[in-house]
Amino acid sequence: MSEINTFAQQQNEYIELVAEIMQIRARGEKPLACVRTYGCQQNVADSETIKGMLAMMGYDFTENPEDADFILFNTCAVREHAEDRVFGNVGAIKSIKKKHPSTLIALCGCMMEQEHIVNRIYESFPFVGLVFGTHCLHEFPKLLYKSLTGGKRQFLRGNDDLLVHEGLPKRRDGAFKGWLPIMYGCDNFCSYCIVPYVRGRERSRSSSAILEEARQLINGGYKDITLLGQNVNSYGKGLEEDISFSELLRKIDSIDGDYTLRFMTSHPKDCTHELIDTIAAGRHISTHLHLPFQSGSDRILKLMNRKYTREKYLETVNYAKKKIPEISLTSDIIVGFPGETEEDFKQTLSLVEEVGFTSLFTFIYSKRVGTPAAVMDDPTSDEEKSERFQRLIKLQEKIAAKRCASMVGTVQRVLFEEKAKKDGIINARTSGNIVVEVEADQSVIGSFGEVKITDSGNWILKGRLNNNN
Ligand code: SAH
Ligand code: SF4
Ligand code: F3S
Repeated sequence: MSEINTFAQQQNEYIELVAEIMQIRARGEKPLACVRTYGCQQNVADSETIKGMLAMMGYDFTENPEDADFILFNTCAVREHAEDRVFGNVGAIKSIKKKHPSTLIALCGCMMEQEHIVNRIYESFPFVGLVFGTHCLHEFPKLLYKSLTGGKRQFLRGNDDLLVHEGLPKRRDGAFKGWLPIMYGCDNFCSYCIVPYVRGRERSRSSSAILEEARQLINGGYKDITLLGQNVNSYGKGLEEDISFSELLRKIDSIDGDYTLRFMTSHPKDCTHELIDTIAAGRHISTHLHLPFQSGSDRILKLMNRKYTREKYLETVNYAKKKIPEISLTSDIIVGFPGETEEDFKQTLSLVEEVGFTSLFTFIYSKRVGTPAAVMDDPTSDEEKSERFQRLIKLQEKIAAKRCASMVGTVQRVLFEEKAKKDGIINARTSGNIVVEVEADQSVIGSFGEVKITDSGNWILKGRLNNNN
């Protein structure tokens, strides 16, 4: 059973203490924090919480680490490449510490829950003064206070699994796109994946806390709300209240307002017909379903511990297509899992062809220390894996281009999101999560509108404002 822990009771004292130190040090000017985020939306949401705490402690923000009094990297451990990037960027920060010795350099997030990583940082990066893992996020004010006053390096990893921390402040990055975590951690232990080890056991927030935050977002003018969790379909497990993800979705969807509701990630093993029926009947729910299948081969799915078959996946997808003809499907795929043969890979290609995804996130398998797959036989060469990867990308390019072309001539409701690189063009997004380039004034940013699709590329669409003529 998850327990709820209220942040304010524990950390307010430290927030005030740090704010006091900062006032004295900065003499009227606000100290500056530079927070860089790597990895998935869960980390983006965590960084918004950290920035909320920093703002309460008197900090302002800068994108430039050279100007910062406090530099924090919120790290990702999902693939080796993600970790290498962090190590490279931390190394590059050393010169800043030389120039500004009083700058505090800190690392947090998923990498910092791994013992071998933390040891490496302790030894090789002596200029890093504060390190804390995902489980210690709610203790950040205390840790920062200790770092600023104790003169000793603070390193903390935690394991308070099953705790849900409510009442943490948030400084959101976007003015109309908002992240709403509904659960934390993961219990699935896919054999390749580090997430359950660095994020802990799955625990859900109460529906009342989620609904309250959803109302705040909607009333605050947020137009695009994404519910976050590693496996949102198993929402509710361990809660005292009896509630499924579909029920939660219906409750949020019943809140009146002008907004789109998205969610990620759905695990195919728990993606029910009830969920698809809920999307079909929704007033605000986007017609986009991100449903990672990882591999099209049953043999590999079993080795991955994914707990569904290709047939079950296709059954779910076909039900979704029947109920929601305009559904936009996307997926994650791993190429080159240990022992994947050419035959297994062809099964992945044929599934991609059969489903017709809007877009794919494709990854070459990356060995993660401590996971079961890390000790599996992996005889396939890197060259062969890269070659498979390229074939997959080529195939998807063809499929996505065809799908985009089929939308030319249709009218789509879009959210205008940002200025494009090209002058006079605004990037908008369809309910199905496809970007449309539209010639429009920047005043439309942050609002919904209708566009007629006039042209298509491999991944994106072009359109013009549809002013009912
Ligand atoms: N909880 C989500 C995914 C989170 S990680 C889900 O189950 O769908 C995002 C994606 O990273 C995964 O879907 C997977 O495709 C990829 N991934 C995870 N571990 C990986 C590894 N060791 N090597 C390569 N890709 C990996
Ligand atoms: Fe990783 Fe699997 Fe959990 Fe997704 S469901 S986070 S891939 S263990
Ligand atoms: Fe990376 Fe952690 Fe997300 S490992 S993908 S930031 S949960």
